[in-house]
Amino acid sequence: MVVTLQPVTELPELLLLPLVEESLAQGFRAIHRLVDEWQTEKNRFSKPGEALFAAWFADHVIGVCGLNQDPYADANQIGRIRRLYVQQAYRRQGVGRQLVEQIICTAKPNFVELRLRTTDAIAAHFYASLGFHPVNLPNCTHSLKLR
Ligand SMILES: CC(C)(COP(=O)(O)OP(=O)(O)OC[C@H]1O[C@@H](n2cnc3c(N)ncnc32)[C@H](O)[C@@H]1OP(=O)(O)O)[C@@H](O)C(=O)NCCC(=O)NCCS
Repeated sequence: MVVTLQPVTELPELLLLPLVEESLAQGFRAIHRLVDEWQTEKNRFSKPGEALFAAWFADHVIGVCGLNQDPYADANQIGRIRRLYVQQAYRRQGVGRQLVEQIICTAKPNFVELRLRTTDAIAAHFYASLGFHPVNLPNCTHSLKLR
């Protein structure tokens, strides 16, 4: 399966609909929030150092992952992984890994650390497999030092 990652500058909202519907059905609201906050311009991953990537398979978007400045951190050199989602039919094929490795690579010049919050056991396993460590901070469960 050839999956390509592309930075998102115009949100492909219609192509994200299957992901929004599937994730909401699983009780995961982050992709709905991604679309909502893009539309209201609350968060377009457009501050310095930020980025949003989509994973494409043929002409479908099958995954997304964003990098924000961490609004919960005291230091401004902390990045935050947000809105990571891979469509169920494409899981366990390395798409999530590809997305997060792209985020790590993109974050390195601008951030010293990446943080995120998840309460999902599979996601915790996934992040551990990518070198993230569990931490006990407010609004943060996992961290990866970049330098
Ligand atoms: C977490 C998520 C993004 C992983 O995406 P994915 O494309 O399936 O992950 P990958 O195939 O790249 O997996 C990489 C590694 O993570 C671990 N992993 C991923 N899914 C796993 C699972 N269901 N059980 C155990 N380990 C898992 C494995 O170590 C895997 O490597 P392997 O397949 O060689 O064993 C995906 O399950 C998802 O979208 N979940 C719902 C949304 C979510 O929880 N987002 C994160 C919130 S911060």
